[in-house]
Amino acid sequence: MMNFEKYPTHALMNITARPEIVFTHGAGSWLWDHTGKKYLDFVQGWAVNALGHSPRCIVDALTAQAPKLITPSPAFYNEPSLILANLLTANSCFDQVFFTNTGAEANEGAIKLARKWGRVHKNGAFEIITTVNSFHGRTLATMSASGKPGWDTIFAPQVPGFPKANFNDLAAVAALVNANTVAIMLEPVQGEGGVNCATPAFMHGLRALADKHRLLLICDEVQTGMGRLGTLFGYQHFGVEPDIMTLGKGIGGGVPLAALLAKAEVCVFEHGDQGGTYNGNPLMTAVGIAVLQEMLKPAFLPQVQATGKYLAECLTALSKDLNLGEERGIGLLRALELNAERGGAVVAFARDQLETAPGWNNMGLLLNSPRPSVLRFMPALNVSREEIDLMLAGLRIAL
Ligand SMILES: Cc1ncc(COP(=O)(O)O)c(C=O)c1O
Repeated sequence: MMNFEKYPTHALMNITARPEIVFTHGAGSWLWDHTGKKYLDFVQGWAVNALGHSPRCIVDALTAQAPKLITPSPAFYNEPSLILANLLTANSCFDQVFFTNTGAEANEGAIKLARKWGRVHKNGAFEIITTVNSFHGRTLATMSASGKPGWDTIFAPQVPGFPKANFNDLAAVAALVNANTVAIMLEPVQGEGGVNCATPAFMHGLRALADKHRLLLICDEVQTGMGRLGTLFGYQHFGVEPDIMTLGKGIGGGVPLAALLAKAEVCVFEHGDQGGTYNGNPLMTAVGIAVLQEMLKPAFLPQVQATGKYLAECLTALSKDLNLGEERGIGLLRALELNAERGGAVVAFARDQLETAPGWNNMGLLLNSPRPSVLRFMPALNVSREEIDLMLAGLRIAL
């Protein structure tokens, strides 16, 4: 039992409203709190635990690597980072990788790489067109790149050079292109923005626009990459190759690992331009290898596609039954419109009060509401149909 008197919660910076729950352990799609109550987890660390909580392959990778080598220094090669870089390049359209610790850091790297490329190849062009409602991270530059309402003033002045166009509006992007433009950056599906999917026409149109003006296309795949959309990377779903891609979340399956990938002709960093103490450390990249090897098994991605289809059908039926709004998404990144600003209330009820309903004794359900009228579903990619059925039963009660 957690002793809140011995460990007062105010010793942590108050950066978000947290419920008075301390999670102590997890397994697959389930989490347990300090009282022993268990929760069916359809948040999974915000689409991070691609293989669920504490999967065997991650535990094995950590326990095998930890006694061998944790960090030699990013200034030396280490075996796991070389293996993972080669696995990623062999299975994508990219030629080189720079490992980071977080998605924001990977995006910072993408922004720096594009600006450097602009300096070398495009007369110092530096502007990167991004989209309204996008989310690229919480560093100053990635907050400036993000199109989240209110983020333009919160830590003003912003990092300049990120004009914004409406998502899925090709003409609006084209109208922002000028001699200073070096790149276009977007999430193939805006995750935090509420699961807004790019149309194939938009993605193909951006590629053509980039080619026409010699711009770089940057896909932020921190949320859409690593199997989430039913393809290893989101760009493969659309059949559009970006010049730069960033990965995070699922690549580490729960440990801090992220990556910046680029085509050879874009890799213009010179010594000293980019680096960081923990980048590519063997402990995290060993986990990355284990996660990726799991995803490369022939049955893995077809299973994600089938499960995503099943979840979509179930949510669509629920929406019809309860007169809710649109169901949307790709693969296992899905959303349901509630037609009313009650997302927060539904999330809180499912977590804290579902246990009063028959069959939910000492159990809760973890859901996410990225916008007041939207629920987002981002379960483990190996979630079972039984777990989806149980989630839907709980969601129905909560609604
Ligand atoms: C699309 C996208 N980019 C970047 C980030 C930032 O990643 P991190 O929180 O690891 O810095 C997120 C996190 O939600 C994201 O969804």
